[in-house]
Amino acid sequence: MQKKGVMFPLLDGVLQALEEVDSGRSSLDDVLDDSNIINPEMRRTAAHWLFSCYRYRVSVEKFIRDFASKSKIKKPLFRLALAGAVHCAFQDRIAREAVVNAIVEYAKIKKGISESRFINAFLRKICRENVLFTAELPDAVAKKWRKIYGDEFILQAEKCLSSEPVQTFRLRHESGELSFDAEKISDGLLKRFVFCQTHEMGKCLASECFANGGIYIQDSAAGTAVELLAEYVTEEKGNFIDVCGAPGGKAIMFYDLFPQWQVFIGDRSARRQQRTAENLERCKVNAEILCLDAAKDKFDRQYDVVFADVPCSNSGVFRKRPDTLFRQNAEGLNEIVQIQRDILENVSHAVKVGGLLLYSTCSIEPEEDGLQIKNFCLSHSEFEFLSERLTLPAFEHDGAYCACLRRKNDS
Ligand SMILES: C[S@@+](CC[C@H](N)C(=O)[O-])C[C@H]1O[C@@H](n2cnc3c(N)ncnc32)[C@H](O)[C@@H]1O
Repeated sequence: MQKKGVMFPLLDGVLQALEEVDSGRSSLDDVLDDSNIINPEMRRTAAHWLFSCYRYRVSVEKFIRDFASKSKIKKPLFRLALAGAVHCAFQDRIAREAVVNAIVEYAKIKKGISESRFINAFLRKICRENVLFTAELPDAVAKKWRKIYGDEFILQAEKCLSSEPVQTFRLRHESGELSFDAEKISDGLLKRFVFCQTHEMGKCLASECFANGGIYIQDSAAGTAVELLAEYVTEEKGNFIDVCGAPGGKAIMFYDLFPQWQVFIGDRSARRQQRTAENLERCKVNAEILCLDAAKDKFDRQYDVVFADVPCSNSGVFRKRPDTLFRQNAEGLNEIVQIQRDILENVSHAVKVGGLLLYSTCSIEPEEDGLQIKNFCLSHSEFEFLSERLTLPAFEHDGAYCACLRRKNDS
């Protein structure tokens, strides 16, 4: 039973996180990473609650608007109504009546009498009418994606949004039985890597296989860039750098395919490079960590393979990070496209003649993907376009884009 003593700080944390994400300052992942909720059970509950707020936000928002009729709802009250509606509708451990009472009491203490009356009437209507909220894409996102990818993709995307994302990991080496339930994913996305799904992620993380580096937690769409690259790597030895490489997932994939190569992992964030170091140690991978700004820093050497796994809008990973759908806007997109362009421009000088430039995002926006690469090639005749691969998000995996180019000459 969630008592007031637990419910109030939990609700405080959820409302603060919603405000932080809505302000555009941070992603939900960052907010959860930085949050001061230490208790793991409470963290899990807060994360589940918050992710549900974004999955069902469009539908709940329509309901709030209808309920409030013509009166204007201030943002803090809107966030409380959203969090309350989602908690009533999607948690099944506490009686709804108790949830409503606790949230109304919270509203009375923290917001005021008229706000608590509004919340009381609103939540009781949801319970009385057994309102079912549906997972929907925000209008602007649906309109854009429908135009590019068609109606069927929109249906698929909304189905993905309404189901809990599959929890996946890469099995780096198969040595004996796993100590938890898992099954191999056979969706045909990858040829060179083994990915599994599990409903026992806690046990997976506590397993010996994980501790020994036999498992890396990642999504199979992450493998598409390294697989594309592998088609063009012919040398037995060389040097490879992932210039936006923390926490090391794809560089470790490259190392697993080409263990003779020298691997460098650059990143701007010292905090994320700390996780790279932990991953390298656990996975027993020999690679050098560099702190660098890929958009600005000059490289003191050239590489046979330069991989730019650039920061992006993350629109392809909306199943796991539904808040990304609400952070898509033209201004933000232009900004991120410019950062990607700066990174591509700068790191292109670090590619040896005859070497490869691999670019990837976990976005499905053409501006960050195919159009970005097309524009780069138009102004960089020294690069030859080899191929690209777009993976749309589906039940088993996220969305991703990658392209591989070869440097023909020096100019
Ligand atoms: C998509 S993640 C990289 C994931 C990583 N390649 C992997 O496979 O685990 C993008 C990374 O880019 C880093 N980043 C953002 N801007 C950067 C910049 N200007 N220079 C270097 N790294 C940057 C972020 O800190 C983040 O770790």
